[in-house]
Amino acid sequence: MSSGPRIVVALVAVVVAALAVAAPASAANFTCNHTAVAECGGVIGYVAANATTYGAVRSLFQVSTLAALLGANDLPPSTPAAAPVAAGGVVRVPFPCACSNGTGRSNRTPTYTSKNGDTLDAIARNVFGGFVTYEEIADANQIPNPNVISVGDKLWIPLPCSCDPVGGEAVVHLGYSVPHGSTVEGIAEEFGVDNATLMEINGIADPSKLQAEQILDVPLRACSSSIRSNSLDSNLRLANGSYVLTANGCIFCSCSSSSYQLNCSIAQNKSSSECDVPKCPGNLFLGSTSSSGCNVTTCAYNGYTNATGLNISVNPVTNQTKCSSNAGSLERGLRGSIWRAFLTSIHIALIGICFV
Ligand SMILES: *[C@@H]1O[C@H](CO)[C@@H](O)[C@H](O)[C@H]1NC(C)=O
Ligand SMILES: *[C@@H]1O[C@H](CO)[C@@H](O)[C@H](O)[C@H]1NC(C)=O
Ligand SMILES: *[C@@H]1O[C@H](CO)[C@@H](O)[C@H](O)[C@H]1NC(C)=O
Ligand SMILES: *[C@@H]1O[C@H](CO)[C@@H](O)[C@H](O)[C@H]1NC(C)=O
Ligand SMILES: *[C@@H]1O[C@H](CO)[C@@H](O)[C@H](O)[C@H]1NC(C)=O
Ligand SMILES: *[C@@H]1O[C@H](CO)[C@@H](O)[C@H](O)[C@H]1NC(C)=O
Ligand SMILES: *[C@@H]1O[C@H](CO)[C@@H](O)[C@H](O)[C@H]1NC(C)=O
Ligand SMILES: *[C@@H]1O[C@H](CO)[C@@H](O)[C@H](O)[C@H]1NC(C)=O
Ligand SMILES: *[C@@H]1O[C@H](CO)[C@@H](O)[C@H](O)[C@H]1NC(C)=O
Ligand SMILES: *[C@@H]1O[C@H](CO)[C@@H](O)[C@H](O)[C@H]1NC(C)=O
Ligand SMILES: *[C@@H]1O[C@H](CO)[C@@H](O)[C@H](O)[C@H]1NC(C)=O
Ligand SMILES: *[C@@H]1O[C@H](CO)[C@@H](O)[C@H](O)[C@H]1NC(C)=O
Repeated sequence: MSSGPRIVVALVAVVVAALAVAAPASAANFTCNHTAVAECGGVIGYVAANATTYGAVRSLFQVSTLAALLGANDLPPSTPAAAPVAAGGVVRVPFPCACSNGTGRSNRTPTYTSKNGDTLDAIARNVFGGFVTYEEIADANQIPNPNVISVGDKLWIPLPCSCDPVGGEAVVHLGYSVPHGSTVEGIAEEFGVDNATLMEINGIADPSKLQAEQILDVPLRACSSSIRSNSLDSNLRLANGSYVLTANGCIFCSCSSSSYQLNCSIAQNKSSSECDVPKCPGNLFLGSTSSSGCNVTTCAYNGYTNATGLNISVNPVTNQTKCSSNAGSLERGLRGSIWRAFLTSIHIALIGICFV
């Protein structure tokens, strides 16, 4: 009668083995069911397995321009394609994201051409850093038997992404591969995300079960902008520490955590004939500010269209908080009135002297 417990032990062992062997069908499911914004910019934090260059990362992921890759990483626009990425270095890779059936995936990009000796699993894990699984590549490319691929097959790699706002705020969803030894709290702190939000959005019930190389959806707060909804770049979202060139490369926009306001100016080394950027009323250039009393007015980027030629628009945005929140200007105002009072008294004194 002692065989009972032994059978249970054997069964448990079988179940545990089955769990360990069964790879998850997908690397991550980023919820993306916001119907208003079905396409946007996705980004992953790609961990380079070997030493590489920004140019090589750009071609692996087919990022539209080198500037787009540099901007996602806040590197100077003059950085050459040959700039090195160390082994283990993290490169933020931007790509077009499309939502369908409640999940976001890269929009039929990047594609990878299989080489001699490749397996789908090696492509998923080693080349694309585990942001997809072999099942997802097989599924996306309608490969009936994942063990059989041919040299030269052009495979679409469906990367996880999302366009959903979080807590009513626009965010940039970063696909993040959990480094060894990190915790949910540590990741939340590093990216300035509430840890409850991070757990909820990733369906993490028990933070102690976080695994290295697990793919997380990290919602980064985006800068707010005044880009209108009918602009061709209405879905432009930038997180702190990144920039983009938009409106056919005519406009340079950056996002900094100092204000979380999109900060746009005319792109350098674009000729004025290529880029007709209007000014705001009062001859204010895009990106510059003027003050009047308590108001600070910034000439902000408002979007572009390209139906009958490039049409870029700007609009003045007024911030009236200068007096209430800026003691410095109040003090300057006060000093100004003291100075005026002083001048007036000199005048009176001079008039007095004339009379004498
Ligand atoms: C994602 O969703 C699919 C299908 O709904 C499921 O099979 C898979 O396990 C999920 N992956 C994760 C990491 O939750
Ligand atoms: C998306 O759909 C899921 C399930 O249908 C739901 O739980 C979730 O709240 C939805 N998210 C948003 C942002 O609408
Ligand atoms: C733009 O400026 C960069 C230096 O910042 C320079 O390398 C590049 O050649 C310039 N491009 C054009 C089109 O003038
Ligand atoms: C969306 O989901 C439905 C039912 O779950 C399925 O029939 C359909 O094929 C899916 N569409 C795509 C594009 O995956
Ligand atoms: C990284 O380098 C190793 C050793 O040279 C090589 O086997 C592997 O294929 C490389 N990985 C990638 C993604 O290039
Ligand atoms: C978030 O992390 C902090 C420690 O960094 C902890 O005190 C707090 O309880 C955590 N919040 C939640 C909701 O888990
Ligand atoms: C914003 O980005 C800069 C540079 O990338 C970084 O030093 C800073 O810590 C970030 N701030 C926040 C709040 O994330
Ligand atoms: C906007 O960006 C420019 C550089 O492109 C910088 O000099 C300026 O201080 C920024 N303004 C704000 C309000 O962040
Ligand atoms: C400040 O802005 C408000 C509206 O934004 C305007 O009504 C007011 O006249 C402005 N004041 C000054 C001193 O420009
Ligand atoms: C904008 O229009 C010009 C011609 O008017 C065209 O050459 C260019 O490719 C268009 N750009 C976009 C992004 O549609
Ligand atoms: C450019 O766009 C603005 C704003 O949509 C519009 O008012 C203006 O008429 C357009 N100009 C041209 C030349 O199409
Ligand atoms: C207005 O100015 C205050 C203080 O300078 C700043 O904190 C706030 O972000 C500004 N708001 C906008 C919309 O620029």
